Amino acid sequence: MSGRSGGARGGSGKRSGKRGGATAGGFSGRSLKTRVRTAKGRGSSSTRWLQRQLNDPYVEEAQRRGYRARSAFKLAQMDDKLRLLRRGARVVDLGAAPGGWSQVALERIGPEGRVVGIDLEEVAPLAGADFLVGDVREPEALAQLEAALGGPADLVMSDMAASATGHGPTDHLRTMALVEAALDIAEALLAPGGGFVAKVLQGGTEAGLLSRLKRGFKTVRHVKPPASRKDSAELYVVAVGFRGGGAETPETPGRHET
Ligand SMILES: C[S@@+](CC[C@H](N)C(=O)[O-])C[C@H]1O[C@@H](n2cnc3c(N)ncnc32)[C@H](O)[C@@H]1O
Repeated sequence: MSGRSGGARGGSGKRSGKRGGATAGGFSGRSLKTRVRTAKGRGSSSTRWLQRQLNDPYVEEAQRRGYRARSAFKLAQMDDKLRLLRRGARVVDLGAAPGGWSQVALERIGPEGRVVGIDLEEVAPLAGADFLVGDVREPEALAQLEAALGGPADLVMSDMAASATGHGPTDHLRTMALVEAALDIAEALLAPGGGFVAKVLQGGTEAGLLSRLKRGFKTVRHVKPPASRKDSAELYVVAVGFRGGGAETPETPGRHET
């Protein structure tokens, strides 16, 4: 792990809505579609990607609000629904680059809150956030996150994705390994009552991981926010009400809602 950065707070996006952060939904999309011709040297898959980007209302809205990634809306929509980001909260952002989720978190937790993020890649500074460069699967990641956080976390969130190999079972295993690494970190850093959000793949969370989540948290659910593309296999597992250390045999196992 190498490096750490901090700097100017939030995006340039205007704040609206009751909680000081921009509300996420309400886009009607474009009525006119932009068509992209296949140019010489541009393959049909990159043409399809470009066409999708140009016709994606979230891409345009992210640019308008100064968000670094359209994925910012996924967190905003989950938070609109489930109230995960409380004012003054300490938040850990795993797989933070380029910083869209951290921007939304900073807007909603306010100046008294704190975000600590980590990614394999460097994240450009945001005031109120500390970004580490490193791999969450490495043992030193936990100690570095803990030191930067300065106290127990209220929310550990992971939008980490393993780079796709095209081989379904391999991609599934790699994604699950990242979710498990994220949960290890969450269990070590969360305050009692804290929350955990992690990207998983369609089909939800494997039985072993799901029962671990239900032991550790009061409520576990799977969420597909509207900004998550319908043709994408991604889904988020959201667990709230962390029971704290020693939660191996709770009297009431966590509820699972779908
Ligand atoms: C979809 S992007 C996250 C986007 C981010 N939530 C945002 O809104 O800007 C997934 C990120 O996970 C990071 N990642 C993947 N594996 C990782 C690992 N083992 N440790 C740390 N970061 C990882 C990737 O480098 C990538 O930047």
